[in-house]
Amino acid sequence: MPESKNFHMSPGEFRRYGRAVVDWIADYYETIETFPVLSQVKPGQISDQLPDMPPETGEAFDRILKDVDDILLPGVTHWQSPNFFAYFPANASGPAILGELLSAGLGVQGMLWSTSPACTELETRVLDWLVDMLALPEGFKSTAKGGGVIQDSASGAALCAVLAARERVTGHGVNVKGCREPLVAYVSTQTHSSVEKAVKIAGVGSDNLHLIPVDADFALRPEALAEQIKIDHKAGCTPFFVCGTVGTTSSNAMDPLPEIGRICREEGLWFHVDAAMSGTAALCPEYRHIHAGLELADSYCFNPHKWMFTNFDCDCFFVKDRETLVRTLSILPEYLRNTASNSGEVIDYRDWHVPLGRRFRSLKLWFVLRHYGVEGLQHHVRKHVQLAQDFAGWVDAAKEFECVAPAPLNLVCFRHTSGEAFNKELVERLNRSGKLFLTHTTLNDQYVLRMCIGQTHTDERHVKRAWHLIQDTAEKIEQDGLVP
Ligand SMILES: Cc1ncc(COP(=O)(O)O)c(C=O)c1O
Repeated sequence: MPESKNFHMSPGEFRRYGRAVVDWIADYYETIETFPVLSQVKPGQISDQLPDMPPETGEAFDRILKDVDDILLPGVTHWQSPNFFAYFPANASGPAILGELLSAGLGVQGMLWSTSPACTELETRVLDWLVDMLALPEGFKSTAKGGGVIQDSASGAALCAVLAARERVTGHGVNVKGCREPLVAYVSTQTHSSVEKAVKIAGVGSDNLHLIPVDADFALRPEALAEQIKIDHKAGCTPFFVCGTVGTTSSNAMDPLPEIGRICREEGLWFHVDAAMSGTAALCPEYRHIHAGLELADSYCFNPHKWMFTNFDCDCFFVKDRETLVRTLSILPEYLRNTASNSGEVIDYRDWHVPLGRRFRSLKLWFVLRHYGVEGLQHHVRKHVQLAQDFAGWVDAAKEFECVAPAPLNLVCFRHTSGEAFNKELVERLNRSGKLFLTHTTLNDQYVLRMCIGQTHTDERHVKRAWHLIQDTAEKIEQDGLVP
């Protein structure tokens, strides 16, 4: 085989097509409001257009990019549309996308400090910055006994927290002998399902995840937690872990961290705080009350990939005691041994999460922090919160609609007063219109609409238009008389 033969993209081609892709993305953002926010395709419609077999010979890049437009784009739900109000956001921004591109270009695998010192040291510094930016407890800093690490997701963070808690309570015994003790973990009925997944994976078992009831605002009731712990002790179980939430998924409820933290301290339980979306609000001093009591937590996470303009995936996970986490997850096969790790002077992030390998994810976060600065991030977070508060005010003032939960930040839970079938029809018609996308939940057995405002480019005009559309659609349903 002639040595010169290769199928690679030349640097010249990469430059040309790279520019085309960046132009494609810029055009996409300029025209994003022309697409239906929720993809309107039927199941199988995209795969029907894809060949059964892979190409035997390589194809021109232009053709590939054209197929993105013709085949894939109709099957994309536009999470980056300013008319996206569903779930919690997964917002992105120009600097984040460019940071991601650079990370892919460098192609670094940062499992060890020595496999790319910049990957590790930038991550450590950026996560320490975030402790200051969000006014988190100093104990979460790498300069104290703790530290932060970027995980793929809040689910990954919850799993690491449960594993570290399990090892702490069993004297690092389960890692060696398997789970023999009847360990018990606690969450509220509103906690995200990622914690249930974590206890399953950790071998604790979902039967041993006890759900604590919530109060009228959907926040965990600490006295019920204390009571359940007593019952479990009496039954011979070993309580070991509690997750409190700052901004629950359904309704953005705020669990009472000081009370939960105090119970955890008294009982010696690991206290994890999940602030997946809402933690970002603490960039602004006026919202930092959401973190009151966090000094009692053993671990904490929030997702810049939800509301801090950093494209998926990027969860920041902090622990107070890195030693316990590292001991829980550390493995050291011979091939990973190196002088720097042996010196004990460096961080090897492979021991801070489940996968061995890791991307240079701090790059995009660093780009975001440097591009916006604290001031820019605060500005946009404040704007989203204000827009949500305006929206809640419009709902309150409308005769046929009502808010059904407190709206502390950027999520408004509301309903039309005509009942479940009406509200279901309302959501379906709105999402079918393609003009916006919102989702629902159930609170107190009521079907409820959720309006979450956190997409990077959402402005007042988008929220106003959404509200008018919601009102007009409700009127139309009433006129059609389709739903009692
Ligand atoms: C409160 C909360 N925790 C955890 C998660 C899971 O997030 P991830 O997709 O990062 O695992 C979510 C997802 O929306 C969430 O709302």
